[in-house]
Amino acid sequence: MKVTVIGSGYVGLVTGACLSDLGFKVVCLDKDEEKIRALHEGQVPIFEPGLKEVLSRNRADGRIRFTTDACEAIEHGDILFIAVGTPPSEDGSADLGHVLAVAALIGRHLKGFKLVVNKSTVPVGTADKVRATISHELMSRGMMPDLFDVISNPEFLKEGAAIDDFMRPDRIVVGVDQGPHYARSQRMMGDLYASFNRHHSRTVWMDVKSAELTKYAANAMLATRISFMNEIANLADVLGADVDHIRRGIGADTRIGHSFLYAGCGYGGSCFPKDTQALVSTAKAYGQNMSVVHATEQVNARQKLILVDRLLQRMGQDLTGRKIALWGLAFKPNTDDMREATSRVVIRQLLARGARVSAYDPVAGSEAMKALRHDFAGDLNALERFELVSHEMQALESADALMVLTEWKNFHNPDFVAMKTLMRKPFILDGRNLYNPEALSELGLAYQGVGRRNDLVQFLTFENEQETVPSLRASASGVAVHA
Ligand SMILES: NC(=O)c1ccc[n+]([C@@H]2O[C@H](COP(=O)([O-])OP(=O)(O)OC[C@H]3O[C@@H](n4cnc5c(N)ncnc54)[C@H](O)[C@@H]3O)[C@@H](O)[C@H]2O)c1
Repeated sequence: MKVTVIGSGYVGLVTGACLSDLGFKVVCLDKDEEKIRALHEGQVPIFEPGLKEVLSRNRADGRIRFTTDACEAIEHGDILFIAVGTPPSEDGSADLGHVLAVAALIGRHLKGFKLVVNKSTVPVGTADKVRATISHELMSRGMMPDLFDVISNPEFLKEGAAIDDFMRPDRIVVGVDQGPHYARSQRMMGDLYASFNRHHSRTVWMDVKSAELTKYAANAMLATRISFMNEIANLADVLGADVDHIRRGIGADTRIGHSFLYAGCGYGGSCFPKDTQALVSTAKAYGQNMSVVHATEQVNARQKLILVDRLLQRMGQDLTGRKIALWGLAFKPNTDDMREATSRVVIRQLLARGARVSAYDPVAGSEAMKALRHDFAGDLNALERFELVSHEMQALESADALMVLTEWKNFHNPDFVAMKTLMRKPFILDGRNLYNPEALSELGLAYQGVGRRNDLVQFLTFENEQETVPSLRASASGVAVHA
C-alpha cells in the first residue's frame, strides 16, 4: 500500500516520516516550493527531535520523497492524507480554505479508487464538504462521483515529542461511515496501522462525525485542565498556598491523574488556542453555548499577562530604562513553533512600556524574529529595544528582572550565583514554576512563581516600587496581606 501526504508541515512530515519508517512508500506533497526544495536537500524546515534522522534514513532508502507536483503525488498513493493547516478565521471558526483546495485538487487528478483520510483538525461536517468537493470535480470531468471514500483520522501528536507520539500512540481514532466503500476503507486503515495494534488494538473505530469531534474534545479538555490549574494558582497566590502541593495532592487521585496540571503563564501553540475557538464557534453555529471552553480561553488570555502584571506591580507602569531578560520564546520546549506563544504577548507589553528586552531561546530564535516582525509590522522601530542573544547568561547582563517563559531543559538548573552577579536586580519571574522558591530565597534571589508560596519571596527595593502589592506581599504565616 502506498501513501501520499498532502501538506508537509508538522503533522504531514511526521506522518510521512513515520509511515515510511514502517515500510510504506510515501510521497509528501506541499505547495511551498521553498519547503520542498529544502527537504530535497536533506534539510528539515521545522525543529522536531528525531525527525531529521527518520527522514534522512528513509530518504536514503528511497521510501520517502517530496514533491510540489500534485498530479504525480495523487497518482502515487492508495491512501491520500490531508494534513494542511486549518487556521482560525476572523470569527474564530476553522478556515477550511486549504482543506477544500486540496479536496478540489484531488478531484481534478483522481483516476482510480483512493481513500482520502483527513488528518487536519476540522469541524464536524468537513468530511461531507470534502466529499462534495471531490464529487463535483469528478462529475465535471464526466467521471463516477463515488470513486473514493473520505474518512477521518485526527492527529494527537505533541510537538516536541511528535515522533514518539506517532510511533507509540495511546490510541488511533478512525472515523469511517457506512457506505459502498466501508469495508474496504476499514481494511486499508487496519492494514496501515497494523504495526501499532499487534499487542492489543489501539484503534478506536467510530463514525466520521464522532472522530472529528473527538479531536476538539481532547484539546478542549487539556486546555481546560491548564486554565483550571491557573485559576487555582492565582487563588493560591492571594491565599498564601502553594499550587505545586495542590497539583500533587489532586494528581494522586487516579480519577484525575498527574498530566496537564501545571500552572504557568498560559498555553499557546498551533492547536489549543485555535481549536478551543473553533469548538466554541461550531457550538454557536448550532445554538449551543460552550461556557466551560469559553471560560478556558478567557482565563488563558489573562494568564499570558500574569508575569507582566507582577512586574508592573513591582516596578510601576513605566519600564523606561529597565532591561528585562526572557528565557524561552517558543510556545513550549523542543519546538521552534512560535504560534500563539506567550512570549509574543509579553514582548509586546514590555516594549509598549518602554523596556529593553533581551531574549534567549535554544532553537526558536529565527522563527521568533519572523513572528515579531509580523507582530510589529506597523511599528518596527519598537523592535530596536529587542535583542536576541546567543546564550542564556548573556540575556541577564544588567537585567532588572528575568522572566522564564518556556521550560527548556537548559533552564532547569542554572548557575544562580552567577545569575545574581550578572543581574542588576536579581528578580526572577518563573512562568513555568521550574525553581525551588526556598533554595532561591536562601541564595538571596527575589523569586515569583505562579501560585507558589509568597512568604518565601524576598523583596528588593526598586526606585518606584509600589508600596502595597496585594498578591505579592505576604505575612510570615504565608497569608497574603492585602492593601
Ligand atoms: N502542529 C501540531 O502539533 C498538530 C497536532 C495535531 C493536529 N494538528 C492539525 O493538523 C493540521 C496541520 O497542522 P500543522 O501544524 O502540520 O500545519 P503547518 O502549517 O505546519 O503545515 C501545513 C502545510 O500544508 C501546506 N499546504 C497548505 N495548502 C496546501 C495545498 N493546497 N497543497 C499542498 N500543501 C498545502 C502548507 O504549505 C504547509 O506546509 C492542522 O489542522 C492542525 O490543527 C496539528
